[in-house]
Amino acid sequence: MAGKLIKAPRGTQDILETESYQWQFVERMALETAGLFGFSEMRTPVFEQMDLFKRSVGDTTDVVQKEMYEVRAEKGKDLYGLKPEGTAGAVRSAIEHNLLKGALPLKVCYITPCFRHERPQAGRLREFHQFGVEMFGAQSPSADVEVICVARELFQMLGLKDITLNINSIGCPTCRAEYHKALTEYFRQYSDQLCGTCLERLDKNPMRILDCKSPVCSELAKNAPVVLDYLCDDCKTHFEGVKTRLEAIGIPYQVDPTIVRGLDYYTKTVFEFISNNLGAQSTVCGGGRYDGLVEQMGGDPAPGLGFAVGLERLLLIMQAQGIEIPKPESCELFIASMGEAANIRACKLVNELRSEGFYAECDLMGRSVKAQMKYANKIGAKYTMVLGDSELESGTAKLKDMESGEEREINFQQELAQTLYDITIQRATENLADDFGGEALASMMEMK
Ligand code: HAM
Repeated sequence: MAGKLIKAPRGTQDILETESYQWQFVERMALETAGLFGFSEMRTPVFEQMDLFKRSVGDTTDVVQKEMYEVRAEKGKDLYGLKPEGTAGAVRSAIEHNLLKGALPLKVCYITPCFRHERPQAGRLREFHQFGVEMFGAQSPSADVEVICVARELFQMLGLKDITLNINSIGCPTCRAEYHKALTEYFRQYSDQLCGTCLERLDKNPMRILDCKSPVCSELAKNAPVVLDYLCDDCKTHFEGVKTRLEAIGIPYQVDPTIVRGLDYYTKTVFEFISNNLGAQSTVCGGGRYDGLVEQMGGDPAPGLGFAVGLERLLLIMQAQGIEIPKPESCELFIASMGEAANIRACKLVNELRSEGFYAECDLMGRSVKAQMKYANKIGAKYTMVLGDSELESGTAKLKDMESGEEREINFQQELAQTLYDITIQRATENLADDFGGEALASMMEMK
């Protein structure tokens, strides 16, 4: 009896073998861009102690209260959570391995799956992927701007258009006290309309009401006092420093006083990059400062800041904007064979070619030559060669260019790798000529 089909969990996506090259490209660009700014990759576990997220992301946030995936080993007592974001693990790891006692600022980056039990929709998944950077130890507004520049540089490298940067400051615990008072007073007037969760938040953490997704709470939040009006002098000066530097570098931005971010650890600068290619889920990147988090998590006091880009959203924008991602090279040579002896020889030849760095294939299915050629066509082989008894005897075979149909006779034992190498060089030169124009290339050659 055929088994019942088990489908992937709702809100998850398979990245198929036909599309993984797009992910590899974007991830490579992300790590390379981060590298230009001195950020090195760090990898932390997909699950962590539940308390790590409660204490960092915050136990009154939607992410922790409503969206966590809890994990418990069948026989264990400990409660773990699948990471809903990358900052908590990075901070934990930096403290645990004494990284903050080394050269500062410490700059790390990561690419990680994240899990949030949200209602799935376009650009909002339950398993998604973040590329993020975190910097520790730097107080200066220059650090805020450097972090913003990493994201901006990545978007530019990928050719993204119309991405807007919105910034805000949500102050420090000093100015936050006054602000919380004002918020509590404001929302208390509407306590009969707030959702149950926000009613609880009213005394514990009124700022969280500002990013509640319930329609009534978000409507009420529109007229709530804004945090910018409550900044202390230190936070005001810092925010001015960020703006001045953004202007000096020529990075356009807008101040959006309604950005509060959905995670508890932020202080001072917060920012988001927005795209109008994403519909309702318009934020492709979110980040900011978290100057109290390291100490709160048991480390010596150290400022911190960072951002995370949602990779699914990034790819959606690229798709919407028609940005082409270079496809991987297709098979250079398919060696078809007729009969056992020829198949053995084909097997040997493709292995030799692979050691030389060429992508080559031979028949693994026991197909007829006609069917082998059909397969070679399907996988987009650039060249084919057929080996049979007569070719084995003469040591020569016809190398066929599948695009032009041209054939050339070669000694396959002695000339194959060299011929493929010559073809590759010729193709690369022609591509260069296409890219730069024949004249430019000729003058480059002359200069050489
Ligand atoms: P976040 O704003 O919660 O920040 O998430 C960052 C980005 O992850 C979002 O802008 C979005 O692109 C993507 N994202 C979030 N949730 C989903 C989802 N359900 N489906 C698809 N994409 C999603 C953070 O996570 C912070 N840790 C960023 C940070 C790092 N702040 C400082 N350092």
